[in-house]
Amino acid sequence: MQCIVAPYPHKKDNDKLFKVIEKNITNNLERGNSSRTHWDLHKKGIKEIDKLMLWISDHFDRATNELVIPYHRDAHYDFKIHSCWGMIYNKGEGVSLHNHFPYALSFVYYVRMPKGAAPLTISETEISPKEGEIVIFPSILSHGVNDNQIKGRCCLAGNILFLDTESSPGG
Ligand SMILES: [Fe+2]
Repeated sequence: MQCIVAPYPHKKDNDKLFKVIEKNITNNLERGNSSRTHWDLHKKGIKEIDKLMLWISDHFDRATNELVIPYHRDAHYDFKIHSCWGMIYNKGEGVSLHNHFPYALSFVYYVRMPKGAAPLTISETEISPKEGEIVIFPSILSHGVNDNQIKGRCCLAGNILFLDTESSPGG
């Protein structure tokens, strides 16, 4: 398994999250690329974003144990959400394969996935998340979005840092 997928219990916030993202779009790149916000959407004191970040933080242990070190199911590491940004893809827009090294974990939360919205490809596997689901994966994995066929595909993405503390298990 290369990622974990989990449903957000407060997906009723998605309309508000969409408006927040729309309002904070700072670039309109050339055709073919998504529009996005700055990287610090989680530092603006926005209630719905803060609530989502807190919920994401509750998944760090699960991500560690299922994705990274499945042989050590009780391992606990400290992580911190380092960046968070929103993206809106319109028809014909996508992002070519890339990874988020040197971060530890990355996430994408799906705010709007209208019919025809492109799936997420992680390491050549297509995943079709639903609205209100999050995908968390090791940042080193190559991923991208191809062939989006509809206006308004919207997500929030972010990177998670490992914090080196005494809690790390020994070798
Ligand atoms: Fe990415």
